[in-house]
Amino acid sequence: MATVHFSFEDPNIKPVTVENVEKGYSILEVTEDNDIHLNHNCGGVCACSTCHVYINSGEDDLEEISDKEEDFIDRAINPRLESRLGCQCIILSDDAVIEVEIPDQS
Ligand code: FES
Repeated sequence: MATVHFSFEDPNIKPVTVENVEKGYSILEVTEDNDIHLNHNCGGVCACSTCHVYINSGEDDLEEISDKEEDFIDRAINPRLESRLGCQCIILSDDAVIEVEIPDQS
């Protein structure tokens, strides 16, 4: 089972670790199932950039980035090399350990 560590740009939110995540779930779905706030205005179909996150490690165990996703990341606030869209980050391995940083959601 995969493990996802969440940290937050907002200093008022404490880091959260979610264990026992089955592969096939997206990072957005993991946030929804664990009451972690991550915007998702388009409903998770790669048509906005509100689910923007930073994958600080574990990227190799996520589905590869698509051209469409890259286009939307360009429109996100403060994109970095580690930027992804949470709804497109499908976890591919049961051994994955993924570090996700969630930008300020306000
Ligand atoms: Fe819109 Fe992820 S929720 S792209």
